[in-house]
Amino acid sequence: FVRPAQPRPLAGKRVLVTAGPTHEPIDPVRYIANRSSGKQGFAIAAAAQTAGADVTLISGPVDLDDPKGVTVRRVESAREMLHRVEAALPVDIAIFAAAVADWRVANEGEQKLKKTSAGMPPLQLVENPDILATIAKLADKRPPLVIGFAAETEHLIDNAKAKLARKGCDWILANDVSPATGVMGGDRNTIHLLTREGAEINVDSWPVMTKEQVAAALVARIAKTAEK
Ligand code: CTP
Ligand code: CA
Repeated sequence: FVRPAQPRPLAGKRVLVTAGPTHEPIDPVRYIANRSSGKQGFAIAAAAQTAGADVTLISGPVDLDDPKGVTVRRVESAREMLHRVEAALPVDIAIFAAAVADWRVANEGEQKLKKTSAGMPPLQLVENPDILATIAKLADKRPPLVIGFAAETEHLIDNAKAKLARKGCDWILANDVSPATGVMGGDRNTIHLLTREGAEINVDSWPVMTKEQVAAALVARIAKTAEK
């Protein structure tokens, strides 16, 4: 009995995926982070690998094993993630699933901050580089297909449309991350896929799915586009 060969619609394609949160140090023992588990990004990397792609996954700190056959680079901060992403170029398809911390601490303590009678330490925040926007706006090495996520807790579609335009990416997977949805850290996701069709933005609303099913649906949609 010979097992039928898996269809490998992304054979020969290089795919880059970011995943997980980033950790932004406050001092040697503390950091700022968010509730991202990395599950959605890891599932996308695994699905792209199964579809035959050569996949590099750049992940912040998560409690997940390397997906089989995927090159995994583990990073801590947003700036490290950006450097690793730049080093992985060129690629055919870049998918930015990481929940990058928007701010880092400018006045990071070299030593553990101590309680003093002077009160609480003032944390100065500065904005992190926008990894997705940086890559989407590259003149030379911009991947032909750049895909982002839009994590929103209100005005989902309007915010996602604005994000698509602002970031210069081709597609956005918009998801409601309000606490009641359980998306952050959970196993399911409800996606609205926004794609640019010339000057128009097309919105496809998918039913609630597991993060693995979302990954498979996204890879199938990429394969359909790649075939054209
Ligand atoms: N992203 C990124 N680098 C950042 C911030 C976000 O690469 N510094 C990417 C995320 O991986 C995601 C997309 O940009 O694909 C949107 O992230 P999101 O947090 O929803 O958007 P922001 O532009 O940070 O806007 P806000 O958090 O204010 O809604
Ligand atoms: Ca953000």
